[in-house]
Amino acid sequence: MTETKFTPRVFSGIKPSGGLTLGNYLGAIKRFVDMQGGQFETIYCVVDLHAITVWQDPKELADATREVAAGYLASGIDPEKSILFNQAQVSGHAELGWIFNCVARVGWMNRMTQFKDKAGSGKDAEAASLGLYAYPSLMAADILLYHATHVPVGEDQKQHVELTRDIAKKFNHDFKVDFFPETIPVIEGPAMRVMNLRDGTKKMSKSGESDMERINMTDDADTISKKFKKAKTDPEPLPETLDGLAERPEARNLVNIYAALNDMTNEQVIAEYAGAGWGKFKPALADLAVEKLAPISGEMARMMQDRAEIDRILSRGADRAREIAEPILKQTYEIVGLLR
Ligand code: AMP
Ligand code: TRP
Repeated sequence: MTETKFTPRVFSGIKPSGGLTLGNYLGAIKRFVDMQGGQFETIYCVVDLHAITVWQDPKELADATREVAAGYLASGIDPEKSILFNQAQVSGHAELGWIFNCVARVGWMNRMTQFKDKAGSGKDAEAASLGLYAYPSLMAADILLYHATHVPVGEDQKQHVELTRDIAKKFNHDFKVDFFPETIPVIEGPAMRVMNLRDGTKKMSKSGESDMERINMTDDADTISKKFKKAKTDPEPLPETLDGLAERPEARNLVNIYAALNDMTNEQVIAEYAGAGWGKFKPALADLAVEKLAPISGEMARMMQDRAEIDRILSRGADRAREIAEPILKQTYEIVGLLR
């Protein structure tokens, strides 16, 4: 298949489940902003249908959706340059998701590590929703509904984008068409995997036990600063070369965060801070994080005072998303032979 047949188009999404973290910002949103206004048409989504694969309080879900939208906007997603909307407003996601449930194989789903992590094993896994199991096939629908060619994500989503490619290939093969692109995952930069501040072997996530292990995008300046100053480290100073971080997950994580926040490579950070102790590096990191993040949390709080404006932006984005999705969905129905 030639890649050139498809318009260069980016799609990515974030779930409105719990608040946004520094992992979402550096691994996803900041990179989405960087891809805006260049060679790609950019489509960014708040994936509320994905959020309900685990229980969400109906009284909180709409505001959680608006808060992720506010996070995108406050970080620099421009609704003129990008299409910004929430998934539930474009019914094609669920429709194509069903067709892909009939393309994907149970054996493929059984290999998805995120399902195993989230659902546990044995009786726990049996109590997981069917939606949680089918989640990657809905994600493939999100991407392929727009014939997206590139998907920027954090490293934890790599397997799901590979599954998306498998679904596209099987669909094209089974129906003897060259219709869906083989989407490329874009996983690059120093922050594709931001780790927990109390345990550098675990991913920073929305749902960890202690709030001290993550930076929330709604944290104020004092909280951000305190969390970095109390972050777990080891007794050694920063090494002279990157190799010196190999067996030091907490130290490596803080260097990566610094690099990503300041648009540097981790090599550049090491070159600048070689031999420095934590008494020097941590306050520098805390100040940098406050400088970059506090304005965003302030702007998110301001935007959340005007929910109607956020709703207008999402609704306009959904109209534009539908314009791209509808012809692709229509052709998909025709290819499958569904009478409409
Ligand atoms: P989620 O919050 O699970 O919907 O994730 C949305 C996006 O943020 C995905 O692209 C994830 O890969 C990315 N992401 C979430 N947590 C992290 C993390 N700790 N490090 C890097 N990227 C992350
Ligand atoms: N599964 C992604 C996550 O948990 C969120 C997501 C849903 C997504 N649909 C997507 C990401 C499409 C990229 C493209 O982080």
